[in-house]
Amino acid sequence: MTAPHTRTTTRDEMVDHAEHLIRSRRAVRAFRPDPVPPDTMRAIFALANGAPSNSNTQPWTVEVVSGSARDRLAEALSTAHARQQLSVDFPYRDELYNPQHQRRRSEFGETMYTALGIARENQAARDAHTAEGLRFYGAPHVALLCTPADADARMTADVGMYGQTLLLAMTAHGIASCPQGLLGFYGDTVRETLGISGTKILFGVSFGYALASAPVNNLTITRAELHETTRFHT
Ligand SMILES: Cc1cc2nc3c(=O)[nH]c(=O)nc-3n(C[C@H](O)[C@H](O)[C@H](O)COP(=O)(O)O)c2cc1C
Repeated sequence: MTAPHTRTTTRDEMVDHAEHLIRSRRAVRAFRPDPVPPDTMRAIFALANGAPSNSNTQPWTVEVVSGSARDRLAEALSTAHARQQLSVDFPYRDELYNPQHQRRRSEFGETMYTALGIARENQAARDAHTAEGLRFYGAPHVALLCTPADADARMTADVGMYGQTLLLAMTAHGIASCPQGLLGFYGDTVRETLGISGTKILFGVSFGYALASAPVNNLTITRAELHETTRFHT
């Protein structure tokens, strides 16, 4: 009788853990400068390597940048931004989003900029916030998640799978994170500064410890209703 009971309890605990882990992850956009201890860092990235991929190909490479390398990268990105030197690895067009996606994006923007105290028409303040993103919102570390340079949609999806696994591994270890597609808009700057080649940057993940008091870290970001995204066929 003990075994089934233990299994049931374990499953309930797993559900609780999964709920807590998935729902407590948040994009954090203000960090304290304290670095993450090396042991925690290794544990997180070792766990993230457990992500699934097509035929177990694991087509991601991950560049974890800290210390003076992090400062050099922030400087190079800020300079590239000021000079408008973009090199977008995965081209972006607003029209890729349908009206429903665009509505969700506007609602998110409204929530975030309201928390930041930035008015819709204040373009200068919005630009300053973007520039802050290129300094990793003050985070002491950033991980660049890369695909092979000639990656197709399948490989790109694998790197996305890795990305969410990494974010959850960070959450489990008490480390705050912000995934940032913006960092892939400056692919050449990242590659030149880090001395890497042969890959494209899908997105970066700034990470460290959250500045708990910052209003921007306390957003209520909702999700679509289940029926809007998911159909059950029987
Ligand atoms: C692939 C990806 C790219 C993102 N890029 C950015 C970004 O460039 N800048 C930013 O501030 N947030 C970025 N985000 C964070 C999203 O805005 C955030 O995940 C979304 O609004 C939901 O909020 P939540 O993560 O707090 O639940 C990105 C998220 C993902 C998954």
